[in-house]
Amino acid sequence: MAVLPDDLSAALDDELAKHHLHRLTQAFDRLSARYRQGDAATSPILASEVDVAAYAGYRMPATYAAVHAVLAEAASRAPGFEPRTQVDVGGGTGAAVWAAAEVWPSLEKCAVVEQVAGAIGLGKRLAAGARKPAVRGAEWRRGLVDPAAPAPEADLVTLSYVLGELPEADREDVVRWLAAKAGAVAVVEPGTPAGYERVRAARAQLIGLGLQVVAPCPHDGECPITPGKDWCHFAARLPRSNLHRRMKTATLGFEDEKFAYVVAGRFTPSRPDARIIRHPKKHKGWVALDLCTAEDGLESGVAVSKKQGPRYRAARDVEWGDGWSTT
Ligand SMILES: C[S@@+](CC[C@H](N)C(=O)[O-])C[C@H]1O[C@@H](n2cnc3c(N)ncnc32)[C@H](O)[C@@H]1O
Repeated sequence: MAVLPDDLSAALDDELAKHHLHRLTQAFDRLSARYRQGDAATSPILASEVDVAAYAGYRMPATYAAVHAVLAEAASRAPGFEPRTQVDVGGGTGAAVWAAAEVWPSLEKCAVVEQVAGAIGLGKRLAAGARKPAVRGAEWRRGLVDPAAPAPEADLVTLSYVLGELPEADREDVVRWLAAKAGAVAVVEPGTPAGYERVRAARAQLIGLGLQVVAPCPHDGECPITPGKDWCHFAARLPRSNLHRRMKTATLGFEDEKFAYVVAGRFTPSRPDARIIRHPKKHKGWVALDLCTAEDGLESGVAVSKKQGPRYRAARDVEWGDGWSTT
């Protein structure tokens, strides 16, 4: 379960307590409907202070969980990559900075670029009491995602839940701009077919620009999934936020945030030879795995039986999103 760091969770509660619950609920409903719509934004979606608070209360824990899962997987595939600097583009209230600082103790200097002043204000207040110096000392820049501006220059550049808000015609330029001066780029999108297709295009572009995929793909070849037929996505489980509990909308004590992602870097990662792309089906005496493999593309229902001893025990422990060795 991806739990928010205590210092973030406490700061968030203090901020949410400044707003009436019914106003947060109204903003929550409006934002949910807008995000479900899924098309590019012609004006900032976070249009008021209460929108920003509702975003932080109900989306930030989920985007934090997704980005944390993404960066933790990337870190496990790139043990020599120890970023000191991060630029988080379209950073909102700063979820990706908190996640990166949690994954990489090496981080010293973070910057968040964001268009909405209210999101910057709230992000700064949340970060003010952070235990991690990289979060506490983050620089917050009001600015646009703008390929005509100097490219973000950092060991790690993150773009989390932003690509889909940008006009389709701009996305290619934005990805080129993100990668221009980055040691590694992480792009995270909602785990929908449309989110996957944006990630798929970004991935192909990053490879074309000379970066290597760190995760999730076990190879730099063409994605073997046929768009429209399936989509590559993963899930991070998180406890229902305090705001959800106050709103009493939650029936379960947790939610699963679905996301699609790519992390690519200017270094050679240590990739697994396959990635588990669905929940493993655990039967009595055998496990069935759906894999994306480095050598043979997609393989569905790969059976690992009890007779295989240690491989079977490993298969019983793996989860959707984990790497897998085919030999
Ligand atoms: C869904 S939120 C994601 C926020 C944060 N990255 C996260 O993962 O929680 C999208 C953010 O991108 C920002 N954004 C969208 N288009 C932008 C643009 N053209 N320039 C700067 N920020 C932009 C929005 O204002 C918003 O804060």
